[in-house]
Amino acid sequence: MKYKVRVPTNIALLKYWGKSDEKKQWPANDSLSMSLDLYTETVCSLHHFENKEGTLYFQSDQETGTTPAFLHKALEHLRFLSNSLGFKDSLYIQTHNEFPAGCGIASSASGLGAITLAALACWTNSSSFEDLEKKGFTRERISKLARLGSGSASRSLWGGFVHWQRGENPESQKCEPLLDAEHWNLRDCIVILSEQEKTISSSEGHRYAHTSPLFEPRLAKIPQRLEYLKKSIENKQLAHMGALIEEEALEMHEIMASSNPPCVYMTASSFDFLTFLAKTRNETKLPMFFTMDAGPNVHVIYEEKNREKVLEILKNYQTIDVGISSGPVLSRESYV
Ligand code: PMV
Repeated sequence: MKYKVRVPTNIALLKYWGKSDEKKQWPANDSLSMSLDLYTETVCSLHHFENKEGTLYFQSDQETGTTPAFLHKALEHLRFLSNSLGFKDSLYIQTHNEFPAGCGIASSASGLGAITLAALACWTNSSSFEDLEKKGFTRERISKLARLGSGSASRSLWGGFVHWQRGENPESQKCEPLLDAEHWNLRDCIVILSEQEKTISSSEGHRYAHTSPLFEPRLAKIPQRLEYLKKSIENKQLAHMGALIEEEALEMHEIMASSNPPCVYMTASSFDFLTFLAKTRNETKLPMFFTMDAGPNVHVIYEEKNREKVLEILKNYQTIDVGISSGPVLSRESYV
């Protein structure tokens, strides 16, 4: 049997940047994301060719940009899962991103989410989320396990809008779906300004965040920003949401740039694009707002009804335009 999963990547509207406990992947603050119709597909099966327990055979699609750093992280995570959960069966895993190589889209959320889900389905012989739950793996538990591979992966276990709550201690943190994909026809047009891999990984960046003088003041603002953001999503108020997510993205990049050592992910092209977007929005009055990840590329968030106009405005850029994902899918097939 082979177990196939498709797990969406996600874009944070309220960012996770900085950890209170690195080992337990306890974030310094809550975050809130939107799952995107852009997936990592992973196929996993038991490997019977050798009589060795716990061996992992990993094959990834070079063309879709699975980097050595990702492979290292993925293997380390699989070993951790197998050791901590006591699954000894050897696995054969094939994984690829359904988005082109080097397009600057963070693949660790969907990638680590997909590997976690596929391995658990295979080890427990589960063909659905209901099946996994019967075997003790609720979606919440899978999300917690994925989190240990990459923090943002914990949010990719659901579609729509997802809230990662920090909680009072590392054990009480959890992810929760807020509203499903059908709630609001939002889209994300990702503007690719650079295809280069980032020089400072997000794991390193998280570590330095605390050294920025802007870090503590930001944490104090988060609870209120989260409440406003949730309300703007519930009430589908794009202008309100837009102002909040832009402030949030800029603040994260200010913290990155003012940490020690500094992590500068924005480039001159990012600034040029943000200037262009602000000017065009002013002229056209079209509601479209930006957010950014730990990289130079820009996500333009807008409503489906304005798709044609937004794509016309962005036609001179390299873009990937996607809607909101309904969440991961899992299936079991037999090898014929
Ligand atoms: O999951 P990580 O460790 O790659 O961190 C993700 C950090 C950001 O993408 C910048 C923000 C977020 O909340 O996804």
